[in-house]
Amino acid sequence: MTMRIATTIAEIRAWRAEADRAAGGRAAVGLVPTMGYLHAGHVSLVARARAENARVAASVFVNPAQFNSAEDLARYPRDPERDAALLRDAGCDIVLMPDPAEVYPPGFQTWVDVGPIAAPLEGAHRPGHFRGVATVVLKLFGIFEPARAYFGQKDYQQLAVIRTLVRDLDVPVDVVGCPTVREADGLAMSSRNARLGPDDRRAATVLHRALRAAEAAWAGGERDAGALRARMAAVFAQEPRAAVEYVSVADAATLEELEAVRGPALLSVAAVVGPVRLIDNIVVREPLRA
Ligand code: PAF
Repeated sequence: MTMRIATTIAEIRAWRAEADRAAGGRAAVGLVPTMGYLHAGHVSLVARARAENARVAASVFVNPAQFNSAEDLARYPRDPERDAALLRDAGCDIVLMPDPAEVYPPGFQTWVDVGPIAAPLEGAHRPGHFRGVATVVLKLFGIFEPARAYFGQKDYQQLAVIRTLVRDLDVPVDVVGCPTVREADGLAMSSRNARLGPDDRRAATVLHRALRAAEAAWAGGERDAGALRARMAAVFAQEPRAAVEYVSVADAATLEELEAVRGPALLSVAAVVGPVRLIDNIVVREPLRA
């Protein structure tokens, strides 16, 4: 199967027009926005998009506006040729791989200012991050005009920010959250994992271990959020290679920190392991009663 590689917005618009003509109306396009260096998690998003849409598009763009430091941006792993091969094999029809100047041309000055949903957790530790994410995602929605867009739940707050953006700004896109894909030892797949050396790679499972410990305590009846945070902190305390940034038990809808868990709750963690900052989460919710 062939896949087109586009570098300009004009090419995407022409592809879109052609797809609509062929469909005799609006072609249902599924979009998978990425920053590249793809892994099995991204491939699962493309597979889902393939199953649910007539056409599948992806973007590979390391968005400078969502990085907090020039060093982090420069070190972000990139391999566009491998990305293109993975996308093609997963059934993608077209990928946009633009230069930053195509996305942010001279004179660019309009930004999406996200509200309280972007304030805690990642927002508190990465000032301006979600402004950059929301702006580029809204631009991608304008460029591709997808029926559906696919995002991983590993970036839970990002998904919440994008859902809020779509609701508040009446963007006609169905935002689809997809399960986190994990390595066999529980580590959540992330492009950043590629930068972990062997010892740090082993240590990186601490994020998932901490979450599982809190989840087990919750399953055993613990509903005190402070006690659940303490469970996670205790697991991190056993791993000298990890510098924990936060352990959180928050309302799964508002992301506000909880004192007692009464409904769906987001257990989330962030830590620096060796040279890499990692995040992970699990949602706990009471089983539905018959
Ligand atoms: O999750 C990512 O890879 C990025 O934040 C996204 C959604 C592609 C925006 O740059």
